[in-house]
Amino acid sequence: MESYQKLIDNNHKWVEQKLNLDPDFFKDLAVEHKPEFLWIGCSDARVPADQITNTKPGQIFVHRNIANLVVHTDMNLLSVVHYGIQVLKVKHIIVCGHYDCGGVAAAMSNKSFGFIDNWLSNIKDVYRLHKDELNAIEDVRSRQRRLVEISVVEQVNNLSKTSVIQDAWRENNLPILHGWVYDVGDGLINDLNIMRSDTKDVENIYIFK
Ligand code: CO
Repeated sequence: MESYQKLIDNNHKWVEQKLNLDPDFFKDLAVEHKPEFLWIGCSDARVPADQITNTKPGQIFVHRNIANLVVHTDMNLLSVVHYGIQVLKVKHIIVCGHYDCGGVAAAMSNKSFGFIDNWLSNIKDVYRLHKDELNAIEDVRSRQRRLVEISVVEQVNNLSKTSVIQDAWRENNLPILHGWVYDVGDGLINDLNIMRSDTKDVENIYIFK
């Protein structure tokens, strides 16, 4: 069997398993889409939002891109965030990076990877902002891990700078933004504890009044 056909085959088996446990599983899902969480994660195949949080389909609205970046000109991401807040009324937005992120490792080097270099420049910007702390870490892997964490914080900061988030905060102090890092090596999520639900930690120049 071709490898991709196995996916369809698995799908049919999965439907059977779900229906055995709960005959209304899909009927219930079709009725409404009301997730409480919006997940902004890396495209990396090892970091599937629902599996690592042990949640069911329907619980997490997901946006993924290489290295889980929040770029202010990214129409796709901004649309997901706006729709998530205004229509789905998500209460939490989680930016989840992961250790051993290929995008972060690539951005930390001077090697060219072609077209993606332009996207990874956003991580180089983060490095530049925090170069004193990062350059002081001699071990390359430790430095990469720290850059993964710092980048997640900066992506949360980037979300805080959007009019979409600030409008929502002004209305009802939601959504709450979170920064997490998943460890592909042991399966555990590290909560960076940087919850944001107002512009208190936003630099003045970015605040819309
Ligand atoms: Co990654």
